[in-house]
Amino acid sequence: MTISSKEAPAGPATPVASAPASGRQGTQIRLADVTKDYGLAAPAVDAISLTIEPGEFMTLLGPSGSGKTTTLNLIAGFETLTAGTIALNGSDVGTLPPHKRNLGMLFQNYALFPHLTVAQNVAYPLRERKVGKAEIARRVAEVLDLVQLPGRDGNYPSQLSGGQQQRVALARAIVFNPAALLLDEPLGALDRNLRGALQMEIRRIHREVGSTFVFVTHDQEEAMNLSDRIALFNSGHIEQVGTPEELYRRPDTLFTARFLGDSNVFDLGSGSFGSTASWEGNSWAVDPATISGHSGVSSHAAIVVRPEDVRIVSDPTAVPAGANSVGAAVRDVEYMGSYRTVMLDVGQAGRLGRARVDALDSAFSIGDRVTAWWRPERQRIVAA
Ligand SMILES: Nc1ncnc2c1ncn2[C@@H]1O[C@H](COP(=O)(O)OP(=O)(O)OP(=O)(O)O)[C@@H](O)[C@H]1O
Ligand SMILES: [Mg+2]
Repeated sequence: MTISSKEAPAGPATPVASAPASGRQGTQIRLADVTKDYGLAAPAVDAISLTIEPGEFMTLLGPSGSGKTTTLNLIAGFETLTAGTIALNGSDVGTLPPHKRNLGMLFQNYALFPHLTVAQNVAYPLRERKVGKAEIARRVAEVLDLVQLPGRDGNYPSQLSGGQQQRVALARAIVFNPAALLLDEPLGALDRNLRGALQMEIRRIHREVGSTFVFVTHDQEEAMNLSDRIALFNSGHIEQVGTPEELYRRPDTLFTARFLGDSNVFDLGSGSFGSTASWEGNSWAVDPATISGHSGVSSHAAIVVRPEDVRIVSDPTAVPAGANSVGAAVRDVEYMGSYRTVMLDVGQAGRLGRARVDALDSAFSIGDRVTAWWRPERQRIVAA
């Protein structure tokens, strides 16, 4: 089922249309130099620019306090801009009140009206828009079907589980064909299994509805599972924007490499490097294609290698020609079910490294001297 703009009820005209003339579903959201300063030591959001394309699933990811919710609230109109512009499909909405932006919102706490039934909760935005009774009944049934809650129309929120309540809140957020849907940690209060199930639901609904979704989370796995693209926030600025694979495989900075998955990190300091880089007396080949374009690389760089790209051997002569390698000692081995992680003391300072090996590979024991190696094209040189 698709909730297209053709089916949209004839309500009062809103300044922001549900679909652009281009025919592509959804709304473009463009932030230019957006700043929010609460008068604290540093702005909550500091001159960020980001264009979210029509129909895109964009996730704002980042640690606590990095400015994700503030950014979402600025888009929604719940917060006022200190500087910069926000445009929906090219029209500036910086001074429009929230209800005129025609955006759907979903929060961690379901915020359902406890005294209204499921059907009445979902109908609420349509009643506000003066949609006719028959049309309301049709659209409520349609959207409850979409979120897989048919037959629960007459229940009150207190009669539903947390996951079911969040489905009702989702139905209410999309029933009026919003220009875009903004979701702030909507799965944060749910247990792990339910979270996974609802992630798949949200993906399916995004595909079926086809509108722009902006999803906030601090959970990197959730962001990787759901998103077309991720904007990674760090202290009020955007560290990097890209597809989950780009951020994982081609991080520009150490912050990005560390936030998305595990990394082995070799700090190069301010030392320069060319076709080789040296770390604690080891000389390693550098593939130019693996050097991040980030300007910070020239002042302070680090080599990062993912654990799954590292192999370990007991015999140093077993390292293949052309590979980069380093001596290490096995600190610990963790059995993870589908694989094992070998924790390594690497280099003179014995810093912690990680290699992922086959679950059936039990060749390594604590204290073993080993050589860790990887292909130069599998490492990345990032700004540190
Ligand atoms: N109403 C407010 N008044 C003052 N400071 C605020 C206000 N709202 C947020 N901040 C500050 O702005 C910064 C960013 O907060 P924000 O809520 O956007 O972070 P977040 O990335 O959503 O974090 P979390 O993952 O914990 O939800 C924080 O330092 C926070 O203390
Ligand atoms: Mg938040």
